Order: sequence, then C-alpha cells, then structure tokens
Amino acid sequence: MKHIVVLTGAGMSAESGVKTFRDHNGLWEGHDVMRVASPEGFRQNPELVLDFYNQRRKQLKTVQPNQAHKDLANLEQDFKVTIITQNVDDLHERAGSSDVVHLHGELLKIRSTGNPSDIKTWTEDLNLGDNCDKGYQLRPHIVWFGEDVPMIETAVKICYAADILVIIGTSMQVYPAAGLINYVQPDTAIFYIDPKPAIQGRGNITVIAKSATEGMKDLIDKLI
Ligand code: APR
Repeated sequence: MKHIVVLTGAGMSAESGVKTFRDHNGLWEGHDVMRVASPEGFRQNPELVLDFYNQRRKQLKTVQPNQAHKDLANLEQDFKVTIITQNVDDLHERAGSSDVVHLHGELLKIRSTGNPSDIKTWTEDLNLGDNCDKGYQLRPHIVWFGEDVPMIETAVKICYAADILVIIGTSMQVYPAAGLINYVQPDTAIFYIDPKPAIQGRGNITVIAKSATEGMKDLIDKLI
C-alpha cells in the first residue's frame, strides 16, 4: 500500500466554520495572536488566555468535520494515510482518520505548567486556580509562538517515508511545520490544496488552487 502523508493547516477546518489565523489582519477571533498564543501573553494575562481557549473549546463542540476531513479518512481504504496537522481541533479524528499527529497541540488537552509531560484530556473550561496534583497551574496543551515543537522529529521521520505528500490549507509561514516539505524524498509527488497557495507548482509539486472540499475531489480523481 502506498503511504500518503497529509500536512494540514487552518484552511482544512475553514469550511467547518473554524477561522484561519492569517486571513483576518493578524487577528485571531478578534485577538492579537501574540497576546493569546505566546508564553509572554500567558504571563501577562493568564485569565485572558485561559478564557480565549475556553471559547475555542466551546466552539469546537459546535462544529463538525467537513467533507474534506471525511474524504481524507476514506482514503484509508486504498492507502496508508498519516495526517500531520497544525490544527488543535479534533476534526480529523472525528471524521475517522486513525493516524493523526498534532504538531501544535490539542485543544481538548491541558498540561501542568510545572511538568510538561503531565498531560490530561480536558473538555470543559480551564480557570485560574485549576492546578495539577503537585499544585502547579494547568495550561492549554498548545504549542505557542516561540515554544518547542516536540512532535517535529516524529513528523520529519514520517515525511521521509512518504510516497505522496498532500498539503492542505496552510499558508506555509510557520516553521518548523512549513519546512516539512523539504524532508520528503526527491521523487515524492507533492499536491498542495489551498485557494490562495503560498507556493507555486513546479517539478513534482502540483498546486490545486481550490478550497479543501473542492480540492479533495480533484485529488481523489488524480489518485484513484
Ligand atoms: N480550504 C483550504 N484552505 C483554505 C480555505 C479553505 N476553505 N480557506 C482558507 N484557506 C487557506 C488560506 O489561503 C491560507 O493559506 O488556509 C491557509 C491558512 O493559513 P494560516 O491562517 O496561516 O494557518 P496555518 O498555516 O495553519 O498557520 C500555522 O500558525 O498561528 C499558528 O500555530 C498556529 O498552527 C498555526 C500555524
């Protein structure tokens, strides 16, 4: 079975009603990204940051996987599929994908500020004073700007082994995630689906300048 590796970004979930990061003048759901998604922002105003992610967690309960998430899950009938997502939602899992690596963390998990490996599932609001067993404040299990991306080495190894790389809905601006395209073998076919593609088609890169749901239809025609 051929191994398809899929790198997804915020555009993957756009048609489910989750806003992207960079399509709104640097604001994310009305907030300056650096105030709600950086360690400095959390130090300066932890309540604002916790509330911001509480809102995102609430919103996640109201949205559903879109057809592109479902099409990716269905690809498992014909291919080995590994999804490397920059998204913190669980829409790939809810659509039925069985092998999903979250590069930038997960909205439905939290961790201890005193012990990064103390990670728990968390589906409700997280407030100041919610502490781990050792008494440290809990925080969202999200990779903020300037923080390490612990899953990047796993993702690099997965990319090395890809027969086909599919990139969907990412502006390719945030590293190290954007650099993963450089870790596939030279003869690996690359398909990039995005209505405003950040890179041009060349050599083994085919650009499908469409939304995730429309672009997935084209991709399936090409692959199956
Ligand atoms: N279908 C596919 N792509 C879309 C759609 C759609 N319906 N709508 C918008 N897009 C594309 C945009 O054209 C853009 O290229 O999705 C991309 C979204 O880019 P960003 O908002 O920059 O999101 P992303 O690339 O995922 O950001 C990377 O930055 O803020 C951090 O950690 C955060 O994981 C995030 C990372």
